[in-house]
Amino acid sequence: MKKRLEEEFSGLFGSSDGVRFFFAPGRVNLMGEHIDYNGGYTLPCALTMGTYAAARKNGTGKLRLYSADYPEKGMIEAELTPERYQPEWDWANYPFGVVRTMEKEGFRLPEGVDIVYSGTLPASSGLSSSASIEVLTAYLLCSLFGFTLSVTALAKLTQKAENEFVGVQCGILDQLSIAAGRKDCAIFMDTGALTYEYAPLELGEHALLIVNSNKKRALNESKYNERRQECEEALRRLQTVCDKKALCDFSPEEFESYKAVLDQEVLERRARHAVYENARTIQSFEALKQGDIARFGALMPESHLSLKENYEVTGKELDLLAELSNQFPGVLGARMTGAGFGGCLVALIKKDMVSAYQEKVGTEYQEKSGYRADFYEAEAGGGPCEL
Ligand code: GLA
Repeated sequence: MKKRLEEEFSGLFGSSDGVRFFFAPGRVNLMGEHIDYNGGYTLPCALTMGTYAAARKNGTGKLRLYSADYPEKGMIEAELTPERYQPEWDWANYPFGVVRTMEKEGFRLPEGVDIVYSGTLPASSGLSSSASIEVLTAYLLCSLFGFTLSVTALAKLTQKAENEFVGVQCGILDQLSIAAGRKDCAIFMDTGALTYEYAPLELGEHALLIVNSNKKRALNESKYNERRQECEEALRRLQTVCDKKALCDFSPEEFESYKAVLDQEVLERRARHAVYENARTIQSFEALKQGDIARFGALMPESHLSLKENYEVTGKELDLLAELSNQFPGVLGARMTGAGFGGCLVALIKKDMVSAYQEKVGTEYQEKSGYRADFYEAEAGGGPCEL
């Protein structure tokens, strides 16, 4: 990849003298879905798949960006401080949003930069290709210009770029899992306190398989923001009888005793998901620490069911994949991962059953849905780095 980026870079900018290379991972969330904006716990890991960049200061007042994955978009240029989201900037809105947010936070670039990107993550599939490019950009700009940001500051800044510049009201999950990635570890994250600790992802004879439904996430942003609003409304109602800061501060027992105040079936289901998903995440973390992979796997279909029935973010393709996977011998558990409405499933499966699984589930999925699934064996990797 380095070689390819170097060639692209010198082709575009005349030479590759002094160019530096960087990487940031994608992430897969293993448990704790749609609760990072409800003060809950999540359990993701960073991946060895991610986004690469070749970058060099250019001594001008311009940012010049190019993606080797979208050559048809050509070179995308902006002034040192891109003001606001521009549709014609396309994918480059993510890095431009980071530059803008860095400036607002006091990290103004003294000169322009040339960057060539290329990634190994499938786009729009729930593996955080956008957060990967955001964290990568912030990390490389800090390295080129000597700015210092802690792991959580890096995550918060890039989340802010996504919220304010791109306009997606995402939580901290994606950016923090990428910034805090550690090889062979899952990250147990407290999204309320913004703290995290690691659990070894020692799966022995099992593998984590990511299955891309290839159903692109549709209507994602509006539905995502709608779920957030429903959770805010549920919390507001619960707060009239109980003094808590976030939905995930309610234990399942507390939720059951106060839920009548929600007074709307939809709000009750949304809050039920948040509260029980949070409890499942704590149990999953305990299971991983104890090396109880079977217990961890058993929680995965429960999570999928709640995302389907209570939270309604799965969609028929992911439901079909989950159903086929959870019936397959050798699968300890499977669930959708990420925002949902299409995208990926993650399955915990016996290693020696992976090819039989791909054959059987892949074929049946294609017959019934019309989409061809892609499979990736996930490896938990480290956070952003210079190569
Ligand atoms: C998206 C968001 C995250 C999180 C997940 C769902 O990936 O960016 O903040 O809410 O959906 O868990």
